[in-house]
Amino acid sequence: MKEFDVVVIGAGPAGYVAAIRAAQLGKQVACIESESYADPKGQIRLGGTCLNVGCIPSKALLQSSELYAQANHAFVMHGIGVDGVRMDVPTMLRRKDNIVTQLTNGIRSLFKKNKVTQLSGHGRFVGREGDRWIVEVKGKDGEELVAATHVVVATGSSARHLEGVPVDNRIVCDNIGALNFESVPQRLGIIGAGVIGLELGSVWKRLGADVTILEAMPDFLAAADQAVTKEAWKVFTAGQGLKIQLGVKINAVLPYENGVRIEYESADESIVLEVDRLIVSVGRLANTAGLGADVVGLQLDDRGRVDVDAECRTNLENVWAVGDVVRGPMLAHKGMEEGVMVAELIAGQAGHVNMNTIPWVIYTHPEIAWVGKTEQQLKNEGVDYKVGQIPFVANGRALGQGDTTGFVKMLACAQTDRILGMHVFGNNASELIAEAVVAMEFGASSEDIARICHAHPTLSEAVHEAALAIDKRALHF
Ligand code: FAD
Ligand code: NAI
Repeated sequence: MKEFDVVVIGAGPAGYVAAIRAAQLGKQVACIESESYADPKGQIRLGGTCLNVGCIPSKALLQSSELYAQANHAFVMHGIGVDGVRMDVPTMLRRKDNIVTQLTNGIRSLFKKNKVTQLSGHGRFVGREGDRWIVEVKGKDGEELVAATHVVVATGSSARHLEGVPVDNRIVCDNIGALNFESVPQRLGIIGAGVIGLELGSVWKRLGADVTILEAMPDFLAAADQAVTKEAWKVFTAGQGLKIQLGVKINAVLPYENGVRIEYESADESIVLEVDRLIVSVGRLANTAGLGADVVGLQLDDRGRVDVDAECRTNLENVWAVGDVVRGPMLAHKGMEEGVMVAELIAGQAGHVNMNTIPWVIYTHPEIAWVGKTEQQLKNEGVDYKVGQIPFVANGRALGQGDTTGFVKMLACAQTDRILGMHVFGNNASELIAEAVVAMEFGASSEDIARICHAHPTLSEAVHEAALAIDKRALHF
């Protein structure tokens, strides 16, 4: 039986990062990855949901579709005339697939470089011998047992499906099928106006689909700041033509050969929607089935996730869990941070993840990004706060780019001036938010940002101005 200091189950962003970091710290490490994702030759692809069917392929399609939308609608204001703009969907998909291949192969190289042993197959706890955990690895070429002092569970998550709505990833799709439409559907239905619904709805809308998104909740993007959601709602619906219906109740989803009939209720009205394709994006569930949790007594929470403390320790000695399979936001960067923390704790160092400074980004156009508290959270918590908000229309770079939608909103404590949150709706929000993350990690005040020189002309000047606006001394608005 092979023996390791650390065995990681799952090679998504949380798992592969934990494996690499533990190896960097001198541990003998193996990482088990199942056959969920394979290349055309049948070779297992590392990188999990994020690299194979999540963050990376979706951002590739968002970029292609955004360029197509710009060629059609934005070039003209610069005086650029283009006739006959066409979208070649197979080429767009090939480009996306090549990026995925490049990155998944990259993880394989990183494993080699760091001497992480890759074990192929499904990982499952089978017991404990002395101070070692015994894990079974069962793949298409047979099974083997490995022993490990530490086990890191990083098995991630899978799309939640609706009861009675079978996903065939042809007509009714989850994220996997939705990233692979070989042509633009004329009519696309989406259940769930969350992150996937908005991102993938934007992709196919830009390419010409008539997109209807059905959302159960009465509020749009309830987790984001209301100033952002109010503005984003107008831009996405009236501006971009996404049809989003809130507060719906889905009664039936009836797929047929070339389409789907969706029967739902909205404001006490019964409505029937016929579409060519349907994306079901109603959240994700932790992958804990078949892990042998019951065999070794690994404790799960009421949502089937592995129960962990702030340091990702489970109820079992030297068993850790990180990423989507545990509490907290299901985000790749959150999982990676936890992977590093656990590897460092295993090596006797002091690992830490600050859950208050995990940024969120939704890659629509304009992008939505935030970190820290929303204004409504501060109100609910009775915190006395100040607001500084600057629209991009007052920013020279945004004007030059012809993209002035949105704003930067900063929130700071009224007594201490400490930054409590920042919310951006605008072009490149995903990059701008990093400044607020750094500031909040360092416990900065809004005055700290106000006194820092920001290059001119840049979008980051809107962050600077928002900080100045907190003290009512914005210079350009
Ligand atoms: P996963 O990435 O799910 O990886 C888990 C791995 O474990 C998988 O490879 C699986 O095959 C393997 N596995 C499971 N069980 C076993 C077992 N028993 N034995 C062996 N192997 C096993 N997040 C962002 O931060 N930014 C984004 O832009 C973003 N975009 C997304 C877009 C889409 C369409 C989707 C679906 C998700 C997106 N996410 C994004 C979320 C992100 O993909 C996840 O948060 C991230 O992948 C979680 O990482 P993980 O390592 O915990 O799990
Ligand atoms: P989500 O949680 O973002 O959104 C799901 C939406 O579906 C919610 O608004 C919910 O109210 C709605 N819903 C649930 N049941 C419903 C029903 N029966 N009928 C109608 N609506 C219903 O989940 P989503 O979009 O599936 O994405 C999963 C996760 O993946 C995200 O929460 C996020 O963690 C991650 N992700 C992150 C991205 C990013 O960081 N940019 C991009 C895409 C996904």
